[in-house]
Amino acid sequence: MPDDPGSGDRREAVKKSVEIRVEPDEAAALQATADVLRETVRSAVTNAGCASIAISGGSTPRGMHRLLSRPPYAEGISWDRVHLFWTDERLVSHEHPASNFGAARTDFLQSLPRSPGGLHPVPVSSDGDASARRYEEEIRRHFHQRHLDEPVFDLILLGLGADGHTASLFPGSPVLSEQRRWAAAVKGGEPDVERVTLTYIVLNNARRVLFLVTGDSKAAAVRHVLTDAAPVLPAQRIRPPAGSVAWVLDRTAASLLPRSLFSV
Ligand code: 6PG
Repeated sequence: MPDDPGSGDRREAVKKSVEIRVEPDEAAALQATADVLRETVRSAVTNAGCASIAISGGSTPRGMHRLLSRPPYAEGISWDRVHLFWTDERLVSHEHPASNFGAARTDFLQSLPRSPGGLHPVPVSSDGDASARRYEEEIRRHFHQRHLDEPVFDLILLGLGADGHTASLFPGSPVLSEQRRWAAAVKGGEPDVERVTLTYIVLNNARRVLFLVTGDSKAAAVRHVLTDAAPVLPAQRIRPPAGSVAWVLDRTAASLLPRSLFSV
């Protein structure tokens, strides 16, 4: 694949600011992500008494969520100190197969030995804008209680779509230029239902962001996001100025990355 103009600069910037972990297979990538979550909770609870975490939906994290329901994560995480939010949600009932909250409930929330300190699903209603506003209020209340005027998540777990979307920030969507709202209603994606997504204001204010991406269907998007300068895809705009960004990939998702990205 020929390089875009500016891709050399993009690679250098990525090498300096992004941690890329390539695991041998999907199972190892899921476990590495669960380990990061456990470590984040441990240090946030030590420093602040609780951990604020946002998780994504889609199919990739489901194996990781199932790991969380079992040892060593089920018992080894202070779940009663964890406040769990969602990066985005499809506006369907929690019983619907497309519900991100519903999937997480089935995959791990219902089997944890201790209930999380707070579950903060996106409020689902037929009015997307009202749902987004209520979700934003909920996030604001949570951080206010911790004496913060801004949303400062300890960890935000993201996925990547083959078109370069992340959360429900789809290419070309007006929400990509949102400057004020923390959560917004959007259309698009698969399934094509109305959604609510966190905006860059929140995603780029996190202490730590981790992209979990597996499978060869994502390899071209991973390569583009980590090496190409143009066109700028939604996932490329995740750059928290005061936080870190890590990518956990399996070998197939990383298969198109150039060696130069890893060389010292
Ligand atoms: C959602 C998401 C979305 C997801 C990617 C990857 O659709 O709810 O949060 O951003 O992470 O589309 O999804 P897959 O893991 O299913 O490929």
